Amino acid sequence: MAGVSEIETLRAEALEAVRAAASKTDLENISVRYIGRKGIITSILKRLKELPLDQRKTVGAAANRLKAELEGEIKAAGDKFKISRIEASIDPTLPGIARRIGAVHPIIQAMDQMCRSFQRMGFTLVPGPDIETDYYNFEALNFPPDHPARDMQDTFYIEGDNLVLRTHTTPVQARMLESCKPPMKVITAGKCYRNEEISTRAYCVFHQVDGFLVDVGVTMADLKAVLVAFCRDFFGEGLKLRLRPSYFPFTEPSAEVDISCFLCRGKGCQLCKYTGWLEILGSGMIDPNVLEMAGHDPEKYTGYAFGIGVERIAMLKHGINDIRLFYENDIRFIRQFR
Ligand code: DAH
Repeated sequence: MAGVSEIETLRAEALEAVRAAASKTDLENISVRYIGRKGIITSILKRLKELPLDQRKTVGAAANRLKAELEGEIKAAGDKFKISRIEASIDPTLPGIARRIGAVHPIIQAMDQMCRSFQRMGFTLVPGPDIETDYYNFEALNFPPDHPARDMQDTFYIEGDNLVLRTHTTPVQARMLESCKPPMKVITAGKCYRNEEISTRAYCVFHQVDGFLVDVGVTMADLKAVLVAFCRDFFGEGLKLRLRPSYFPFTEPSAEVDISCFLCRGKGCQLCKYTGWLEILGSGMIDPNVLEMAGHDPEKYTGYAFGIGVERIAMLKHGINDIRLFYENDIRFIRQFR
């Protein structure tokens, strides 16, 4: 029966074997030989009771220590093989794995496409601030202080300074009218904000593209011509356009514009709710008051203006039934528009 010094010898021998092991199988064999069910150390522990009492303790402790040490060493050596197995599987001649990157957001894509379309027709793209003064957002656009149309806009007010988060992109028109001289042909695009109940059709942030033209002798026919050209470019050939009377404080007369449904070509389907028409934008002739407030003579100059909701158009174009999808930033949704 082994004593403490034999266990020392056993330890040296076992550790050397672990060090020399060249594979997982070698390690398994070592484990079986020393600490397996019938292993050398296991059987020493089983036969402790054959020893005189005074030796039982010391031999038992030494054997248990060696068992624990060996388990640790075998495991550590096994980890090394794992790493080297991965290393062995790398083939440097294979092409690399392409890194998965994002995609341009479908709203930005639609907005850019609209802007490019108008830019090709000679409109100049100008930016404007998201935080706007009450004056440009409302007053200069012919919304007097107690005008009921203000309530329709569910405005986010910024306390104290007469500032708002712009409720539309039309204030850029007021700014440009004030700072430039006709002829003017301007387009702007960006985020708008309204404190609306969030639903499948409304969100507190959305995007608009707004354009206008002011010159001598501009008529509603010019408005219609530019909108027909835009719709052809954006939605494709063969669509009909219709102007429906509407109301905006900053245009007179005002018109909402429908296109014949591009899905059913006007025959009636779910998308157009069986009307054959899709509403796509608001427009009109710039109200003489707006021109006058900006310092232009409305007897001399006239102009048209239009405003397009980007989300609505993107939803129609891609058959998206919930506006919130645009704002959840689920990469699986966004990637579909690459
Ligand atoms: N600002 C309007 C809105 O938010 C859209 C609009 C309508 C813009 C007519 C215009 C326009 O420039 O002429 O609902």
